[in-house]
Amino acid sequence: MNCCVAGLQWGDEGKGKVVDILAEKSDLVVRFNGGANAGHTILIGDQRFALHLMPSGAVRTGCQCVIANGVVVDPAVLIEEIGGLKDRNISIDGRLFISENAHVVLDYHKLEDRLREEALGKNKIGTTARGIGPCYCDKVGRSYAVRMADLRNPEALKEKLRKIVSYKNKLFSALYNADPLRTEEVYEKCLSYRQALEPFIANTTQLLFEAIQSGKNILFEGAQGALLDLDHGTFPYVTSSNASALGLGPGSGVPACHVHSFIGVVKAYMTRVGSGPFPAEQDNEIGQRIREKGHEYGTTTGRPRRCGWFDAVAVAYTVRLGGITEVAMMHLDTLAGLDEVNICRAYRIRGREVNFFPGNQDDLASAECIYETLPGWHEDLSKIQRPEDLPANVIRYIQTAESLIGAPITMIGVGPKRSQVIYRKPV
Ligand code: IMP
Repeated sequence: MNCCVAGLQWGDEGKGKVVDILAEKSDLVVRFNGGANAGHTILIGDQRFALHLMPSGAVRTGCQCVIANGVVVDPAVLIEEIGGLKDRNISIDGRLFISENAHVVLDYHKLEDRLREEALGKNKIGTTARGIGPCYCDKVGRSYAVRMADLRNPEALKEKLRKIVSYKNKLFSALYNADPLRTEEVYEKCLSYRQALEPFIANTTQLLFEAIQSGKNILFEGAQGALLDLDHGTFPYVTSSNASALGLGPGSGVPACHVHSFIGVVKAYMTRVGSGPFPAEQDNEIGQRIREKGHEYGTTTGRPRRCGWFDAVAVAYTVRLGGITEVAMMHLDTLAGLDEVNICRAYRIRGREVNFFPGNQDDLASAECIYETLPGWHEDLSKIQRPEDLPANVIRYIQTAESLIGAPITMIGVGPKRSQVIYRKPV
């Protein structure tokens, strides 16, 4: 049984917890998009530990971890995560596989991300400054790209880096008046990356083909969320990879027909980090309350997240985009204590009621939400285990959301722990 977990909003939906639960029954966990811009916190015993690149299966010693070709790998971050796991007596030796075709994020990508954003000023995308966009640009541009396989051949890599650094220096100096980089410095770092990561570099496409053939359970772990998808999200305020479930095929080499279940993850409200349209945003006391109660601050950058009501128009769109078969709704406990709660059921655009997600970004930017207002709940949900014990108003909220998004909500998150998930059907 192969399964994909993907975010249906703008990231940070709580995918890590769902993946962590499902990883227990998985032989392999596969990351297929994004890079160290992602971030989720896992609990090891009582300790919180943030992972950015390592698949969530890393903490389960029986699980193989695959960083597939669609990921952009920042070796410095990955080496630190491997070390952090080792310090907690979790070894990934022999069970981490990094695609030889995955592209490498180097210091000049992070520099370019920062310089580009600074130059854009108020028009900036609000990136995580992790070098993600510039690395994917080099991938698409091809001539100045470095892949994991290149780390294996230091002589050829040195030549390649000479060409790349000379190109980047001309570019950065002309556009941003930046100081030149030194090839030797970039090269020396690559040598240290090679030493630490070479044993893990593999042909992950073949590995996955063989895993499918032998009937292993594979869990595909999407990073970010479908509204940040490069092709189908709120462009240009998106990330540079296919952050919906659609990214699974190109990002891993496994066609979607091998995946039996697509679980979409949402929060019971919306959040967004960085710039871009957000029709249901509550830049007011409600948003502030959700932010504080839900600890809505970025795992990767610490930035406060923008918060708003659940947008069923947007999620109905991403359910269809991802071929989502069931939905996990997290953070329902965060909404407790409000007398009324809203769900956006349609938009008003230029005076007309629209009940689908607009492709035109100007339309989205001008969309006003039409809300379904429901009674709130004041009960503490955090200790509830069975769906029948949920307060009637919570059930009504869930049923309204699922009828509007067109997919069943089968898991409900009521707190940060693994045990704080209510199953409306067996996993
Ligand atoms: P980038 O991926 O760093 O280029 O950032 C592009 C946009 O995606 C920015 O708005 C980021 O805040 C957002 N973003 C990237 N990764 C995540 C994530 O894991 N969670 C939430 N937002 C993200």
